[in-house]
Amino acid sequence: TAPAAVIVAIDGPAGTGKSSTSRSVATQLGLSYLDTGAQYRAITWWMISNGIDVQDSAAVATAADKPVIVSGTDASNPTITVDGVDASGPIRTQEVTARVSAVSAVPEVRTVITELQRSIAAGAGNGIVVEGRDIGTTVLPDADLKVFLTASPEARAARRSGELKGKEATDLAATREALIKRDAIDSGRKTSPLAKAADAVEVDTTDLTLQQVIECVVTLVEEKRAAR
Ligand code: DC
Repeated sequence: TAPAAVIVAIDGPAGTGKSSTSRSVATQLGLSYLDTGAQYRAITWWMISNGIDVQDSAAVATAADKPVIVSGTDASNPTITVDGVDASGPIRTQEVTARVSAVSAVPEVRTVITELQRSIAAGAGNGIVVEGRDIGTTVLPDADLKVFLTASPEARAARRSGELKGKEATDLAATREALIKRDAIDSGRKTSPLAKAADAVEVDTTDLTLQQVIECVVTLVEEKRAAR
């Protein structure tokens, strides 16, 4: 019989290599993949596009269930649409990045997106790697493996400005400030903040290459599978 679907939760702040690691692990192990940050970015983009003031949490709450967000879970080609429109480009702009933490702090937004995430995970027959901030603590507390990635603020800012290079103006100090500000909001919000689950394995990636982090997580998943 086929092995039961394995559920992997990968959480941590921005710039720790979450997305690259999660995608590679999913690809190597033949699992589905879900980028939950992309979903919060998508709802943020929809709010901006519809003229909703993202600082007005009552307005954001009222509109939270309006956009139809669809995430493709193929690790080799993750897609995201909002009301049928491809959102993969617009969700990566600095405008969305600067506003996503305010939108994702609104409880009604979290309720809608969390339900969506749980239904996607439940439907992934082959198992899934889900990356985010609150996956191990709130969205999938029964995940088979929980990983919490960390790295120094310097390493995270350097990685982020490397990613942005050529796309938008990059200033290391400004990137570092923006990251720290976003982390503070994500960690400080009342509803399911960025946090390490008590039973998560913490991996400090500061001095590791991406390849090393991927190998580490693949090994952790294989150990979990073997133990079942
Ligand atoms: O992973 P990312 O940088 O694309 O995430 C963008 C934002 O979305 C992040 O700053 C906070 C929010 N987010 C969240 O609140 N909960 C998650 N599970 C994932 C992301």
